Amino acid sequence: MAARKKVTVIGGGMTGGAIAQRMVEKGIADVVIQDDPQFAQTLHHGKALDMAQSASWLGFETKITATDGWDETAGSDVIVCTAGAPRKPGMSREELLNGNADIVRAKVTAAAKASPNAVIIIFANPMDAMCHVALQASGFPRERIIGQGGALDTARFRAFLQLETGVSVRDIHAYVLGGHTDTTMVPIVSQARIGGLPLASLLSQEKIDAIVARTMRGGAEIGELMKVSSAYYAPSAATVEMAEAILLDQNRLIPSAVLCKGEYGIQDIVCGVMCELGAGGIKRTFETPVSDDERAKIKAAADATKSLIALLK
Ligand code: 2OP
Repeated sequence: MAARKKVTVIGGGMTGGAIAQRMVEKGIADVVIQDDPQFAQTLHHGKALDMAQSASWLGFETKITATDGWDETAGSDVIVCTAGAPRKPGMSREELLNGNADIVRAKVTAAAKASPNAVIIIFANPMDAMCHVALQASGFPRERIIGQGGALDTARFRAFLQLETGVSVRDIHAYVLGGHTDTTMVPIVSQARIGGLPLASLLSQEKIDAIVARTMRGGAEIGELMKVSSAYYAPSAATVEMAEAILLDQNRLIPSAVLCKGEYGIQDIVCGVMCELGAGGIKRTFETPVSDDERAKIKAAADATKSLIALLK
């Protein structure tokens, strides 16, 4: 029987801890939490041991451990890089650019060396720009450096549609493409369906506009409410869904940030598009139908990322 899959979660903070917990409880992969004792004290060791002690009641056999180094991460199938500063209330994701780029560069370089065949999911903000940093630091192909923003923003869009319509979230088919910033994400209203119905048959234009605006500020709203942390429940759920699709070769269609090669006319810039996730990372990308206005916004998102990566030191 093949050995169990292995996932490294870089960063033992709120997000890293939540991802590790969701992952190990699903029972599909052993998880190693990697962090630096000087930043996280020994929180990651404490979290891993605490989670391991939950196994008898939750009934999982998967192993959860922590490390300050990289040897224990070797041979990972998926690496989730959550390392980096979260934004504080009132701060934009873009303001984190060079501080987080240094962290992501160092972490991804070491992680890629230990696990040269891994798929890396990037979490740190500004996420699209951080994917460029990770592509360069790892030397990995575009199929194996994936940004998680689209999956998270999609979850928020669906949650707000559910709150407004009362319909089960399972019957809401709606996606967010473009960038993972307050100004560049593109909730795709033109293709969104609730049980096959276009949004306009259930919601007024005013309500749809409000849901789009709330989705775009989804992370900021949580930050303002939590004050001491940015979001981690929905982000971890979204990330684990992506990781599971890769680990179990599920061929799930999940909006993800990828280095574009012509999608929506975008060339060599990371942007959120519909991706098929399975063994080895991104198997296919799709240029799903969108309105002319949405297409222009997706292109503008890539242009904004291009301007941001020009500021990378
Ligand atoms: C969010 O949108 C932290 O970027 C993440 O919540």
